[in-house]
Amino acid sequence: MLNGKKILLGITGSIAAYKTATLIRLLVKQGAQVKVVMTESATQFITPLTLSVLSKNPVHYSYKNEDGTWNSHVELGLWGDVFLIAPLSANTLAKMAHGLCDNFLMAAYLSAKCPIVIAPAMDRDMFLHPSTQNNLDILSGYSTHLIMPNTGELASGLEGKGRMAEPDEIVLFLEAFFLTNKSKLKNKTILITAGPTQEAIDPVRFISNYSSGKMGYALAEAAANRGATVILVSGSTSLTTHHTNINTIHVISANEMADACFNHFADADITILTAAVADYAPLEVSPNKIKKHDEQLTITLKKNIDIASELGKRKKNNQLLVGFALETENEIENAIGKIQKKNLDLVILNSLNDKGAGFATDTNKITAILPNGEQKQFELKSKVAVAQDILNEIEPLLP
Ligand code: CTP
Repeated sequence: MLNGKKILLGITGSIAAYKTATLIRLLVKQGAQVKVVMTESATQFITPLTLSVLSKNPVHYSYKNEDGTWNSHVELGLWGDVFLIAPLSANTLAKMAHGLCDNFLMAAYLSAKCPIVIAPAMDRDMFLHPSTQNNLDILSGYSTHLIMPNTGELASGLEGKGRMAEPDEIVLFLEAFFLTNKSKLKNKTILITAGPTQEAIDPVRFISNYSSGKMGYALAEAAANRGATVILVSGSTSLTTHHTNINTIHVISANEMADACFNHFADADITILTAAVADYAPLEVSPNKIKKHDEQLTITLKKNIDIASELGKRKKNNQLLVGFALETENEIENAIGKIQKKNLDLVILNSLNDKGAGFATDTNKITAILPNGEQKQFELKSKVAVAQDILNEIEPLLP
């Protein structure tokens, strides 16, 4: 996929810069040509010599070549098929959002005509800061492609979102990116549900589940990057997306999620239901906070609407409906049962018996099952990589 592709790699000052050695090796192994441009502070984290050896090209960080001649940022900016900036620090992100040009990398960025892909890396609170989020929104308005950072242990010792995507995830992203023009998802409309629903008990309490929404958001980003228009109906999660091709509709309860799906289903070529919809909700929602009185409290629940089944009934021949099945026993049998019960075209099975699969993890292990019983098992992978696998399974099903 990346054979012959010209990748201009911008590296900024972040500890994640050490990962670019592996990234360059993976890209070169795939036949890509890589030229590196660094900020001065990036050179503190990894040496230009290392990157020059791995990329087999000179590394650029100054307007002056070693022989004193001018290093043309314009030429470099125009060279790449893509300008990937990984890791992207909060500082360079801010400069990109506002057009500041105080170093060679920024000059190359402002001269570049090719698509821009960014892989931010920063500490949790820096990433969540409103100014960083605003800057990401500004870049999204310039059609910049974002590779979301992962959640995990950060250099500060804190836990949270901000770890640069792993080199293999970045390579996967680039492969999908170059596939976009060939992708059958280009210009398709995809409806995706994600995250948990919350069913109110009283004004301060609800019933919910452990779903993080990560799988649905990863699918939304991956589909949008293949050129699809995504309508993401999201339950309450801590996740955000800045992709211009993704329209997020925030909902709380199963009924709200159902309404949003019913409003948009007719426009959707493909619908992917990753949400963990609460199967039951309190029969009555107390208008006031329930006070502590008796030793036991019974809350009567009523069955919620099954969004997947309802969409299965409304589905037209030119629409695809993809469901998920999270099982703890008789996995395959139950998943096949759901295909029939909900009129699905594909079911993605997660087994909670597989370590690293299911809710609230960054990884997943899936089996894709077709209505004819055909099954394909995948290895344990990051949810970003699993999203690519799922879309690769969906594409051939399109008319
Ligand atoms: N689903 C839905 N609406 C519901 C329940 C489930 O749209 N009220 C969707 C899920 O998003 C998923 C698929 O249906 O794509 C299967 O969900 P799952 O919870 O595994 O199945 P259930 O039908 O709830 O069956 P059970 O709880 O008995 O396993």
